[in-house]
Amino acid sequence: MSLYQKHVLPKLLNWAMKAPALSKLRSELIPLAEGRVLEIGLGSGLNLPHYADISDLTGLEPSQQLQSIAELLIAQQAFPTKVLTAASEDIPVESDTFDTVVMTWTLCSVRDPLLALSEIKRVIKPRGKVIFAEHGESPDDKIKNWQRRINPCWSHIAGGCQLNRKIDRLFQDSGFKFLDIERGYLEGPKFATYNYRGLAQLV
Ligand SMILES: C[S@@+](CC[C@H](N)C(=O)[O-])C[C@H]1O[C@@H](n2cnc3c(N)ncnc32)[C@H](O)[C@@H]1O
Repeated sequence: MSLYQKHVLPKLLNWAMKAPALSKLRSELIPLAEGRVLEIGLGSGLNLPHYADISDLTGLEPSQQLQSIAELLIAQQAFPTKVLTAASEDIPVESDTFDTVVMTWTLCSVRDPLLALSEIKRVIKPRGKVIFAEHGESPDDKIKNWQRRINPCWSHIAGGCQLNRKIDRLFQDSGFKFLDIERGYLEGPKFATYNYRGLAQLV
């Protein structure tokens, strides 16, 4: 791991992910979580203050540095929380465990999104819900072209983040249906802010 990835990127992500537009979406989506919750890519823990009534939280976070930043927020929550140093492509948890899986701005960065979604399918209970907010491919040809051009450089500086994943297609191809989905640009440069957010459930 480079010095940039170890010391700069975690602080940069913690700062960038506090953008007001993202906080607003967190405050709308995260209170919908219930029961036993798995959060994929816990990051610096910015969703934690928004959980309303859950029994416990398991956070998956491969970066030790982001886990350290999240510690303070974890300590402030009333619900039991454990953090696993693991990746979404290989979730070290028994099948049919969680009522809710939360994933915010993480599917862009996982190495194999289809494998990650198949693991989510395995660990979520049959009637469980996935709460998601993810940026991805824009429907506008001009922006889509920019996303394709910028992607190699962006991915290098942004921890593997891919600008142009078709988030809705990835969910559907993995056997999920949408109970609710909204698509649209948030504030900021259009190449990085086309968002998909909502609720998904196994078909
Ligand atoms: C842009 S940050 C978002 C963090 C957090 N979800 C949030 O909403 O602030 C992307 C996160 O995905 C995590 N990540 C990257 N690859 C992952 C993987 N394969 N499995 C789980 N998390 C991963 C990163 O460590 C980072 O915490």
